[in-house]
Amino acid sequence: MPGPVSHVPFIPDSAPFTAEQRAWLNGFLAGIYSHAESPMTAEPPPALKITVLYASQSGTAEGLARKLTKELASRGHVATFLPLEGYTPASLAAERYALLIASTYGEGDPPDAVQPFYNQLCMEHFPRFENLSFFLLALGDSNYEHFCKFGRDLDEKLASLGAFRMCERVDCDVDPDEPFGRWKSLLFKSIEEMAATRPAKGAAATDATLSSNSSTASEPEQAKRKMAAHTRDNPFLAPIVEKRPLTHDVSSKLTLHMAFSVEGSAVTYEAGDACAVIPQNEPRLVEETLHKLKFSGEVLVQLPKARTVPLQTALLDHLQITRLTRKMVQAYATIGGCPPLLDLLRPEQQSHLDAYTWDRGLIDLLYEFPDVLRDPADLVAMLPKLSPRLYSISSSPAAHAGEIHTTVAVVRYRSHNRERGGVCSTMFADRSKPESRLPIYIQPNNKFRLPKDSRRPIIMIGPGTGIAPFRGFLHERRTLGASGKNWLFFGERSAATDFLYREELESMQKDNFLTRLDLAFSRDQDHKIYVQDKMLEQAPLVWSWLQDGACVYVCGDATRMAKDVDAMLHTIVEQQGGLNREAAADYVQSLKDQHRYHRDVY
Ligand SMILES: Cc1cc2nc3c(=O)[nH]c(=O)nc-3n(C[C@H](O)[C@H](O)[C@H](O)COP(=O)(O)OP(=O)(O)OC[C@H]3O[C@@H](n4cnc5c(N)ncnc54)[C@H](O)[C@@H]3O)c2cc1C
Ligand SMILES: NC(=O)c1ccc[n+]([C@@H]2O[C@H](COP(=O)([O-])OP(=O)(O)OC[C@H]3O[C@@H](n4cnc5c(N)ncnc54)[C@H](OP(=O)(O)O)[C@@H]3O)[C@@H](O)[C@H]2O)c1
Ligand SMILES: Cc1cc2nc3c(=O)[nH]c(=O)nc-3n(C[C@H](O)[C@H](O)[C@H](O)COP(=O)(O)O)c2cc1C
Repeated sequence: MPGPVSHVPFIPDSAPFTAEQRAWLNGFLAGIYSHAESPMTAEPPPALKITVLYASQSGTAEGLARKLTKELASRGHVATFLPLEGYTPASLAAERYALLIASTYGEGDPPDAVQPFYNQLCMEHFPRFENLSFFLLALGDSNYEHFCKFGRDLDEKLASLGAFRMCERVDCDVDPDEPFGRWKSLLFKSIEEMAATRPAKGAAATDATLSSNSSTASEPEQAKRKMAAHTRDNPFLAPIVEKRPLTHDVSSKLTLHMAFSVEGSAVTYEAGDACAVIPQNEPRLVEETLHKLKFSGEVLVQLPKARTVPLQTALLDHLQITRLTRKMVQAYATIGGCPPLLDLLRPEQQSHLDAYTWDRGLIDLLYEFPDVLRDPADLVAMLPKLSPRLYSISSSPAAHAGEIHTTVAVVRYRSHNRERGGVCSTMFADRSKPESRLPIYIQPNNKFRLPKDSRRPIIMIGPGTGIAPFRGFLHERRTLGASGKNWLFFGERSAATDFLYREELESMQKDNFLTRLDLAFSRDQDHKIYVQDKMLEQAPLVWSWLQDGACVYVCGDATRMAKDVDAMLHTIVEQQGGLNREAAADYVQSLKDQHRYHRDVY
């Protein structure tokens, strides 16, 4: 701390800073020097008015943003908690301080609901952000090619529009706790410094008045309840109470109904939420990996969060070994100096690298380029963390008290002379039995909820495992006596072998609770029939339900189905509403704005 001085240093206009940076630095210096001159009379730093914004699809960014808002409020700041969904760049330009937490989806895109905000931001001639100072936390998963891309893009876009980045962006991988903590320390340090440089009265007094209103205003009680007990770091060990195939023995695929007991636990959920399962790698593959590496499973290795575990435990429970990422190939190739791999890593070889990593895992590297790794620590350092798998809950808390049901498609395929399986879905299929306990927690999905007005009709489009949340919705609406009409579009490969939950659905249809059930069995004839074809067949009725205020829900495969269904919805609106392409797009956007078009796709 500088000693007492009579003059406060000042950054001149000619210094190489923007007006915003100069103002901040001058304030900062003034703050430091005024404290130095009269430490005994210093008042507590005044509050800042800060907006916490999040871009979230499955709730992680939302949860962190909520925590942050509370912490800011508890430190005396005026914190407002808002989604970027429905927010406008113009509102952001009017903010003084913004903390943004943003997750990435698709091909490095924003969460669906945030796309309109980002499109607007990217339009030319958008307002400059000279008044805005921001901090950004990006959420992602390094198993994806475009790691944290939306957060990175948003960070660069805001800076390029003149906003002042208060500290470097922090990117979070699968487990955000540590980087979130690191980011918070950086931002709290900056915020306290900024607050200290502001006059103690005036603006602060106004802010303090606002404070009492906004820190708790947008806090849904139910979300608080769900944030409670069981999390990824403290999962509930749920016993399996039912495991049965929903597909027939002779089907070309296996889909399972898995039910867990959560009786007596603190686990609670709402229809629409997902159940996260912490999986375990296949023990035989772990044995083969250790054998090929000539490492002992007993050797102790260090994991993040200062955990020391035997290598075998690390490979079984903590590290991802069945998928390859660029980072893994890079680390392996660098240690081993493997020319073919180094060649694949050149930027112009990206498509070949994608093809190489698509259906290979660590074990393939070990066979193709043997004797590279000598130190277990190098292995641990190159492997990403094993991520929890999410399953849309197919039960209803009202109808299935004390239980959570899931509907799981078992992933199996053969590549490079090896039978392979998805880590979690084969754990369900091959390595778990009733009474086994599996670590689970709830991933809330506040964007995928039944309409509050139970008289509102709903249209549900869920082929394959996309049926899961709709089974939950139907049971919930029936148990609670909702009078709104219900329409389900379901599709699978074949009626005889893959009609998931057939009896339940037919019985709900028979007693008129399920108003309409339209089915698309893709492989029962010589050309494919999909759910969107059934939607088109019923276009006038779909339009009439929409006119009656129906909510539309889509769940299941993101890569093809959800895009094709979305395109069909646009076509139906165009045809039936007599609208041109742009007007139909506006209509569909208005459905989203009114929270009447929801997607839960993966
Ligand atoms: C919000 C949400 C809800 C979900 N709900 C459900 C649900 O209700 N039911 C459900 O079954 N799933 C659901 N999923 C998907 C689920 O989380 C898992 O991703 C899925 O079960 C696969 O996990 P796994 O561990 O078995 O496979 P992983 O070990 O993750 O392996 C899958 C990977 O294997 C590779 N692969 C798969 N097939 C092939 C092939 N033919 N050739 C080469 N490589 C291949 C691909 O790289 C693929 O990414 C949901 C996902 C999300 C995000
Ligand atoms: N590798 C595996 O063994 C395996 C097994 C199960 C699931 N999966 C993956 O897991 C995810 C979910 O699988 P799921 O069991 O829920 O079923 P799914 O694979 O999504 O299939 C469900 C139904 O949707 C049809 N479909 C395919 N493309 C479509 C499109 N563009 N529009 C509308 N419908 C379409 C399928 O038909 P067709 O299949 O006849 O085209 C099938 O009838 C998918 O991403 C899938 O790739 C992989
Ligand atoms: C379908 C799907 C696609 C994803 N795509 C990416 C991606 O391209 N890049 C990335 O870094 N993370 C990707 N992720 C990981 C999420 O960004 C990450 O899990 C994040 O913590 C989710 O935050 P949210 O719960 O707030 O939506 C994807 C996740 C899912 C389920």
